[in-house]
Amino acid sequence: MEAMRAVQILNPSGEVTMPRPERTRVMCVANQKGGVGKTTTTVNLAVALALHGNRVLVVDLDPQGNASTGLNVPHHTGVPDVYDCLIDSVPLEEVAQAVEGIPNLWCVPATIDLAGAEIELVSVVARESRLARAIAAYPGHFDYVFIDCPPSLGLLTVNALVAAQEVLIPIQCEYYALEGLNQLIQNINLVRQHLNPKLEVSTILLTMYDRRTRLADAVEQDVRNHFGDKVLEAVIPRNVRVSEAPSYGQSVMTYDPGSRGATSYFEAAQEIAERGVKEPVSRNA
Ligand SMILES: Nc1ncnc2c1ncn2[C@@H]1O[C@H](COP(=O)(O)OP(=O)(O)O)[C@@H](O)[C@H]1O
Ligand SMILES: [Mg+2]
Repeated sequence: MEAMRAVQILNPSGEVTMPRPERTRVMCVANQKGGVGKTTTTVNLAVALALHGNRVLVVDLDPQGNASTGLNVPHHTGVPDVYDCLIDSVPLEEVAQAVEGIPNLWCVPATIDLAGAEIELVSVVARESRLARAIAAYPGHFDYVFIDCPPSLGLLTVNALVAAQEVLIPIQCEYYALEGLNQLIQNINLVRQHLNPKLEVSTILLTMYDRRTRLADAVEQDVRNHFGDKVLEAVIPRNVRVSEAPSYGQSVMTYDPGSRGATSYFEAAQEIAERGVKEPVSRNA
């Protein structure tokens, strides 16, 4: 019911479609800064695309398990999680859970066990490509796989970068936004050179935009000058409904589909979907 209501409010005429890509797009949502909107972006884009007919898998790769919380997927100790896939080679499909209330959406949760993985991975065979192998072996076909990264550049994030073709970087519109991105870009370049030649930064999303400040505008200009058309036209405003939604185990899409937060993520999802059918570059390059 909630899913149907959300679609009716966000897309009343049903005119907007989110075309399914020809091949699975594996998108790594990364930025080693915490609190820039990685998880919020992962959850809301995933829900928006799933509500419009795309088959979507979210892989929660942050031991804090915020994406699992946001999608209301059980992730207490003892629940099979992405740690089991990475360390013990348990197939992803044994761990993935259907997200309640959102057809077409599944989540591989993270429990606190994942906190140990960063160190345990060091001595595992093919430690950088554990997630890539697990995703490649998943028998179900997905249109999108979103990997929600932890706020660090360790082995978990490297696994996400090796598994993905695309990196989506959420950037918070604040003073130090671009600082620290160099390090992420360097890591992406290293992974591309040595482990995953197909990897590219395909998408930049400006988050928590506060239109009352001149600073946000300046940061937006900076980011657009620097990254050009990788930056989505849709910008996510700071919106209290967005931050309230997770405490109800919901995305803002279903929690308050009429809010500015929801409509902006809806627009961002639409742009991503359209780019995916126009320029399949990332997968063929
Ligand atoms: N557009 C927004 N408006 C208001 N609050 C937001 C918005 N985006 C994210 N938040 C809040 O900011 C905090 C950090 O966001 P989160 O997505 O968890 O970042 P990250 O995953 O990068 O650490 C969370 O409490 C989240 O609810
Ligand atoms: Mg997060």
